[in-house]
Amino acid sequence: MTALRTPVIAGNWKMHHDPASTRLFFERFLALHAPRTDLTVIVFPPTISLEAARLVVGERADVQLGVQNVHWESAGAFTGEISADMAMAAGARYSLVGHSERRQLFGETDADVARKTRAVLAAGLTPVVCVGETLEERRAGRANDVVDRQLSQVLEAVLDASGLVIAYEPVWAIGTGETASPDDAQAMHASIRAQLASASNAAIPILYGGSVKPQNTATLLAQRDIDGVLVGGASVDPQSFAAICATDA
Ligand code: PGA
Repeated sequence: MTALRTPVIAGNWKMHHDPASTRLFFERFLALHAPRTDLTVIVFPPTISLEAARLVVGERADVQLGVQNVHWESAGAFTGEISADMAMAAGARYSLVGHSERRQLFGETDADVARKTRAVLAAGLTPVVCVGETLEERRAGRANDVVDRQLSQVLEAVLDASGLVIAYEPVWAIGTGETASPDDAQAMHASIRAQLASASNAAIPILYGGSVKPQNTATLLAQRDIDGVLVGGASVDPQSFAAICATDA
């Protein structure tokens, strides 16, 4: 990563940690992770555990919280959904948008992801927009086209791209133990960077996600266009997440 961008270490807990185990996680994690001004740490707990997280994290401004998903409307008859405004009011400052599990298991389309990104920005939260190709798409040589298409819809939907964070997560690397090679990840990040440059002059952080662990974080962060990591499985355990956050960036 270049000196211009502050590295981001983000933890996506998915459907792990109820409020009680969230408290335990943060008590342990905060004891292991001393504040660092050269790093942004973001944790995405399940929404039901956000308040528990907020209470333990308290004054630690170096640790930010986010939600994993929001609806694109700000209120209404959408049983089971939450809005970006509600997430903001509850203490979130970030929202994941378009995680591949949302796209694959819950049918989110590129258009949904674009609408959600707009709603998240309008609420004053920072969207972490997830893009990435499947194994089939990579094997067919379509990885760049797929990511380009996913990103284009978002860039068309927002007036100002400078508030975005992008996470490149190849679907085949998520929860599989497979990581994209640092070269492949760098190549995709460079292509995302070029696409973003056509929409904004801002230094938009691009995170890598997919089987990130304490052992591979340093190599990934050493790549020129990798500005941080989005960690799933290894973020659920306070020790491994603290080890990732201790990586020299
Ligand atoms: P993983 O998940 O680190 O368990 O592969 C990453 C993600 O889904 O964000």
